[in-house]
Amino acid sequence: MQRGVIRFVMGLPLLVGCAGEIISDARPSTGTGGAGVPSPGASGGATLPSGSGGALATGGAGPPIGPSSPAAGSGGSPARGSGGSLGSEPGSSSGGFPCDVDAVLRSKCQSCHGAVPLNGAPVPLVTYGDTQAPAVSSPTMSVWQVMKTRVHSTTMSVMPPRNQPALTSAELASLDAWFAAGAPAGTKACGTSGAGGASGGAGGARGISTPGVGPESLPCKPTHYFRAHAEGSASAKYPVPNPSQDSYICFNFKSPFAPGEQATAWAPITDDARVIHHWILYGTNAPLTDGTITNGCEITTLLATHVAGWAPGGENAVFDPDVGLSLEYPYYQLQVHYNNQRYNDAADASGVAFCSTTTPRQNTAGIVVVGNMLFSIPSNANDYPVNNSCTNLSADGKTPLTVVDTSPHMHLLGTGFRTQHMRGSMDLGDLSNIPLGTWSFDGQKAYAVSPRRQVLPGDTLRTTCYYDNPNPNAVNFGPKTSDEMCFNFLTVYPYAAANKTCMSLF
Ligand code: HEC
Repeated sequence: MQRGVIRFVMGLPLLVGCAGEIISDARPSTGTGGAGVPSPGASGGATLPSGSGGALATGGAGPPIGPSSPAAGSGGSPARGSGGSLGSEPGSSSGGFPCDVDAVLRSKCQSCHGAVPLNGAPVPLVTYGDTQAPAVSSPTMSVWQVMKTRVHSTTMSVMPPRNQPALTSAELASLDAWFAAGAPAGTKACGTSGAGGASGGAGGARGISTPGVGPESLPCKPTHYFRAHAEGSASAKYPVPNPSQDSYICFNFKSPFAPGEQATAWAPITDDARVIHHWILYGTNAPLTDGTITNGCEITTLLATHVAGWAPGGENAVFDPDVGLSLEYPYYQLQVHYNNQRYNDAADASGVAFCSTTTPRQNTAGIVVVGNMLFSIPSNANDYPVNNSCTNLSADGKTPLTVVDTSPHMHLLGTGFRTQHMRGSMDLGDLSNIPLGTWSFDGQKAYAVSPRRQVLPGDTLRTTCYYDNPNPNAVNFGPKTSDEMCFNFLTVYPYAAANKTCMSLF
């Protein structure tokens, strides 16, 4: 990852107005930025149940799929603690590790690698024995040897994952000293009150039962659900094969929403927390058959729009009482990423619950796409920038538009992301800022813009996507896994006055 190097946008001189522009000033800042606040703030949420539809996604009276198995717990179940409390037995509080190592594992690893590993983590990292066992990914190595590689990885495989709080240099130093010594057992009991503690993951990723997250924490009763299910059945759970690694399964739905119906809030449902890694709900005009499942759907239809998403740490989205999200897509696709290396009984009904209203709210919001659909990332590029400007968010050139939240979207090569808001030469502050080196394909979610931002006619929204391309070939825009994308999905109102797509190519 190189920083502070002036680069030029290559190619596309005929089509992209800003080709050749120096964009070093467009780099996301490291460590700060407007992207840190997930999802709209809490408040509001009055709903009128609609009960319309008949499509598989319609919940009507309640979730179409019952509570999850006791082993997995349902979203919000108090049975499973969060953070470092997983599986640590009283009396063996160190798990047999040196105390500094124990503290790191508790605060940064055990939210996923608990006694019952969650979010697709293949192994527990709770007892000393856990780290001495053969690794799942490389059975000729011990888990601790793979730990050593993964905590130092500069790619997607880094642990903790990129969308989670990183190890501090002191934490990394503790682990490195332990690796260098051959990963010895601890020699004394450790207090549980030390760094990281046993009770909350101290800033680390939470497990799935996050307080305040889930349908039961919404200020409204959900009216519609999009959930994983078995092929052809709305009521049976999706059996997650064991083993399955990086398996992307898409559940296809006809829209359950009535014309004009608006979402007021949504909440993630985490069902079999042991195997669900992340999900994204897309809206699309491309016809899909209700109730079907598409396997191996890493990358969805070309112009599918990101409507909602969850990754570990993701929260409920509740629109303010004056804002309703118009949902006018005829089809929806719930894309779920599973990892399952351990559980023969894995069965999942994760997804999303929507509250909606058929009485339009004062401000009808909708999703606008900004970004770039014509670019090429050269081989061996580091933090290569691709940019694009939206200069006409307002379709009539007169109506100011208000941005409520943003959902940046790139594929696997992304490293950082930024959408700047300019008025002439005045920089009004970033709408999105995901610092270089922190983009995570698996951590895609909505970020609240707080306070809301008004974009006047004539303002420019300049989006810059940054990529590393370690491949020997150039990587171009496209829908496949091996292609790239550069979009920001903005929730704006009044939607009727907005261009639905705003890029300098179109
Ligand atoms: C947000 C959840 C999460 C957190 C936090 C997390 N991991 Fe992971 N880890 C995973 C997932 C999911 C996998 C499996 C997919 C993969 O290999 O990337 C994994 C895989 C691994 C593996 C490979 C194990 C094997 O047997 O092949 C190791 C080692 C590992 N993690 C170490 C760590 C360490 C060390 C930490 C803390 C410093 C950590 N992880 C924090 C989710 C997490």
